[in-house]
Amino acid sequence: MALLKIITEGDPVLRRKARPITKITKRLKVLAKNMLETMYHANGVGLAAPQVGISERMVVIDVGKGPLVLINPEIIAAEGEERDVEGCLSLPGRNEYITRAYRVTVSALDLNGDKINLTGEGLLARAFQHEIDHLNGILFIDHLDSQKQGQNDNP
Ligand code: NI
Repeated sequence: MALLKIITEGDPVLRRKARPITKITKRLKVLAKNMLETMYHANGVGLAAPQVGISERMVVIDVGKGPLVLINPEIIAAEGEERDVEGCLSLPGRNEYITRAYRVTVSALDLNGDKINLTGEGLLARAFQHEIDHLNGILFIDHLDSQKQGQNDNP
């Protein structure tokens, strides 16, 4: 296992749309382990491959219920709404209220190449949305402006 360097805001890799993973290799499995190690070391609950400089569609998540590795994850259902404080290991020290769907179902492959569907609520749903955003070059602060505008429209 090895700790990876976490890329911070300003590096173009965070703004790139990550490539789909077509083959689950030994290299990918090692990367997943190292990403989990790096996430735990940084006290994070999620980490996406672009955050360690790898523009490929894999994320790791652990909201306290054990590690999850999701390959080519996609949100296939979302419902409800919850506003809560969010942060990101790539934007150290920055925390903002962000509105996200409350319950989200994700379809992905696991490290065995098996298709999995996972439904999460609250923090887990938030982590799914935040980490999948990373694979599309989106950072959580991108959600700020439209949401503040929305608040002004509905005082
Ligand atoms: Ni993040």
